[in-house]
Order: sequence, then C-alpha cells, then structure tokens
Amino acid sequence: MVLLLLHHLGLTSVHEFADVKFICVCGTNERAHEIAKAFNVNNDMRELGRSRFVVYKVQNVIVCSHGMGGPSISICLNELIKALNMACNCADVTFIRVGTSGGIGVPPGTIVCTTEALNEDLEPFYLTNIMGKKMKYPAILDTGDIEEEIVVVHGKTLSTNCFYENQARTDGAFCSFTQDDQRAYIRKLYSIGVRNIEMEIVTFAAIVHRAGLRAVAYCITLVDRLEDQALIPPENIDVGKLISTIVRIVGKMNKGLCRHCLAFGTRRGKDLVTRCELRQHDRAEDLWIVAGDRVFGVSEFLLEHPGGQRSLLKRGGGAMDCLEDLAFHSQKGRWMWDNFQVARLVECAPG
Ligand code: URA
Repeated sequence: MVLLLLHHLGLTSVHEFADVKFICVCGTNERAHEIAKAFNVNNDMRELGRSRFVVYKVQNVIVCSHGMGGPSISICLNELIKALNMACNCADVTFIRVGTSGGIGVPPGTIVCTTEALNEDLEPFYLTNIMGKKMKYPAILDTGDIEEEIVVVHGKTLSTNCFYENQARTDGAFCSFTQDDQRAYIRKLYSIGVRNIEMEIVTFAAIVHRAGLRAVAYCITLVDRLEDQALIPPENIDVGKLISTIVRIVGKMNKGLCRHCLAFGTRRGKDLVTRCELRQHDRAEDLWIVAGDRVFGVSEFLLEHPGGQRSLLKRGGGAMDCLEDLAFHSQKGRWMWDNFQVARLVECAPG
C-alpha cells in the first residue's frame, strides 16, 4: 500500500519540493495544466500528484489547482506548505495566485495585481474559527514585479464567500437587495480602491504570510461590474495573456531581483538604476559595466575594445567595479567612457 502523505494533493513523496522557488496556484485542473505547459520550455513537466487537486512540477515551479473558495484553497495551501516544510525548503519560495475575477472600473480582460486583499467586512484580514475561537490573520501580499509592456492595474481585491449575493449579484437563487443597492455597493468598492472581486485571495495572502513566505496575486477580469454583471464568454478573454505574464514575471524573479526591486521595479527615476537592474545587463548584445556609481553601456564598443571582448564581458552586469580600469585609461580614453554612460547606480533599498 502506498501511503498518501498529502491526501488532497495526492502526493506520496515531497523530494521534488526541495528545489522549488515558485508555487503557482489556480482554480481548475485544466488551468493548472495550461500554466504548467507554458513553463515547459525544457520538456521537464511532470504530474506529481492528483487527488482533489492536481500538482505539476516544471523547472523550479510547482503548479497546483486549488478548487473554488477560501476553504478549498486553505486545504491546498496547508498541504503545499507542509510539503515545503517536509522537504526542508521553507525559506525562499514565492506563491503566485493566478485566477479570474470580476473587475471594478477596469475593462474586461484587464490583469489586476492585488495590492491588498479584503474580506467581506472590507478589512485586510482572513477570518476563521479554530475550535470555537475566532481567529484573524493579516492578509499581506507583495505587489510583485511589473512587466512594462503589459498593462497591469494595481488595486485592492475583495474576496467573498460566494459568487452570488456576496459579490452583489442579482442572478443567484436568492437576492436580498435591490439593483440600486447593488450599484451603490459596487461604486463604494471602487471608491475605496477595489479593482476586482474573487473568492480566494484574502485566504491565500494570509496563509502564505503566516508561513513566512511571499505571496503575489494576478487575476484577469471577466466583466466590469460598474457596467454589468454578465461575464464575458471565456473564449473572448485572453487568459493566455495572463499566463504568459506570469511566465515572464517568474523568469524575471528567477534572475535574482532583490525583494525591494521585485516590489518597486529596478529603476529609481530618470537614469537611476539599481544593482538588480545592472545585473540583468550581462550579455554581449546588452552589456553594462560599472565604475563607482557610473553605469556604462558598452555593447557597441565590444568589438573595438583594445583589451579584447573578454575583458569587458567579464565585467558585464557589474560583476566588478571598473574604477581602477577607468583611472588606468588616458584622458582621451576617459572622455570616450563619458559617451557610453547610460545611468547612475543607486542602492536597491532606500537608505
Ligand atoms: N470570479 C469571481 O469570483 N467573480 C467574477 O465576477 C468572475 C470570476
């Protein structure tokens, strides 16, 4: 008999969790399969478990379905976090919730990155009850990294216990309010900065935070609730855009951006870049070197460099401080460096 260690995930072993850096969770098994496939550029995607949920591993990413609503995602997260703990990998893991939602004041198809998750009392806490005792856990998220070429709206997310009345919908089996009440409530949500509604993020944020891990949440919207309550048919929503955004974000995070640059980006104003940004420019076709706080783009000069390409490539991405090299050059040489300056270097986190 095979012992199921993690019943709802259908896992019999956790050794695959030892090198995991990202855990993407989404509602359905089909979506989990789609996401895992998008990461599968090296053909290393495997199904690790299948029971209530399905679990895939691909690269250093686990992709797992979590079902619908807070109770379901809480079971899924308990088992994923337990698997990480058992595999002794409890530190540097980012959980990413990828889902669909109802938008508020944003067009259908918008990707919303949650800045704060609210419960139905419109407070940023996950409320639960343990052995008759009311518990309240802060729902804390990172705002994640932003792909500049993709429009991502940042805003608060309301997580509800049901899709219908709790989301001010009049099309469930029951309706205890008028359409005017509905409109007023949605407008109120908009006015306090809520940009989408779904059913899991407040639970997700609180449980991942309680485990001391990083959580980010990106959802695509299927309707603008300021205008309507009918969802756009799934074939008219480009969920692929959300998935490719997630793959790119994970790719960027895998490049080792610090926590601060992940949250606030790697640019600190016009011509100011952080060391995290500098590190990304380490290839011949996009090569930056640094001398003190001056950053130089030297790709164009690579073939002409009298000291050879290798000496510049070795210094790429700020691997070495070139202050001494700069001093070694003649006055004319130093003037040449001036032409290549692209930015000034600043610390990733403020003072
Ligand atoms: N999921 C939700 O919870 N609400 C919506 O309106 C759409 C998707």
